[in-house]
Amino acid sequence: MKYDFKTLVSRKGTGSEKWEQMYAWNPQVGDDVVPFSVADMELKSPPELIDGLKRFLDNAVLGYTMPYDGFYDAVIGWQKTKHNWNIKKEWIVNTPGVVDAFYAAMRAFTNPGDGVIIFKPVYYPFSMAIDDNERELVNCPLINTNGYYTIDYDKFDELAKEPKNKLLIFCSPHNPVGRVWNKEELERVAEIAIKNDLIVVSDEIWNDLIMPGYDHTVFATVNEQLNDRLITCTAPSKTFNLAGLAISNIIISNENLRKEFKKAIDVVRGGTVNILGYKACEIGYTKCEGWLEEVIKLVDTNQKVVKKFFEDNFPKIKAPLIEGTYLQWVDFNALKMTNKLLEKFMHMEAEFFLDEGYIFGIEGSGYERINLAAPTHVIEKALKRLEKVLKKVYK
Ligand SMILES: Cc1ncc(COP(=O)(O)O)c(C=O)c1O
Repeated sequence: MKYDFKTLVSRKGTGSEKWEQMYAWNPQVGDDVVPFSVADMELKSPPELIDGLKRFLDNAVLGYTMPYDGFYDAVIGWQKTKHNWNIKKEWIVNTPGVVDAFYAAMRAFTNPGDGVIIFKPVYYPFSMAIDDNERELVNCPLINTNGYYTIDYDKFDELAKEPKNKLLIFCSPHNPVGRVWNKEELERVAEIAIKNDLIVVSDEIWNDLIMPGYDHTVFATVNEQLNDRLITCTAPSKTFNLAGLAISNIIISNENLRKEFKKAIDVVRGGTVNILGYKACEIGYTKCEGWLEEVIKLVDTNQKVVKKFFEDNFPKIKAPLIEGTYLQWVDFNALKMTNKLLEKFMHMEAEFFLDEGYIFGIEGSGYERINLAAPTHVIEKALKRLEKVLKKVYK
């Protein structure tokens, strides 16, 4: 491998959300313990990105900054070459985060009391956005067949038909279950959304993290008609691990929809992206594809390490391989622990800090989500720690 994916950089005391959360959960953990919860990477940043930012900073005037041609070219070029998606500069609306974008979409396209459909278990801020904006959460649970998740189209159709349900927030690829929806699946979702006049937020923040053998299909490319009701959320933040730089590209081809969306952003003055965010996005999309390719290989290796660990030692605990993201969804229900007990066991006994499945919805009860974007030896060490204590409770 060309890149250093073995060195672990301690983020203790740097304000890392994930690390601070770990110390809050268990203040006693040693300096050698690493969390695998919040979705950012425990990997050194792409050297091309760091070098590029350093060179930029040598001569930068750090004033108010808006998107510029080099930035737009990079975003348009990446979507074209990586995703076979032709977008125009004026379709791009910048927000600091994708979460900001779906909060804004909620304000733009629904009123208090309207129903918003989501497919649980799903990235928990979808529910927060609905609750915080006093909309009604309408759950259309995914179907779980021995760990393989699919969409319940009949139920979705039934819910979409109800006039009070106005918006779908769709996660593609899907966090936390790791599915990369295929073209046929996307076509069916699009058809139901169009037929029932739903506005669709397609959160495609994970679209670049696709495991070997799978392809991401951009939702906007499956059905031309869908574009008149579609807000697509993209960002370089998961792809190149730059969430701290707060830059997202929200792509909306329909002019009226875009206007309404921008209004909802502007009313809270929420569209300010920082100068380093633009520059990092540009560098990521033009210079860091090689790094991304190696990250994907690392994640694929790590998910196989985790799967084999459970198969060899605790076969009733299931860790199926993912199709996309860097998050593995592991079923600990065989332990027959309550969610709170499982959480305590993980935090206090195993010192294994993951995202608890139940936070993604009741459908995630008994599950844990492991962040695989870390050096393999760091994951192996955590699994060893888990093995020691799991042996005592596994029957
Ligand atoms: C599906 C999904 N959407 C959005 C985000 C975060 O978006 P942002 O940090 O850009 O607000 C995440 C982070 O894990 C995610 O998994």
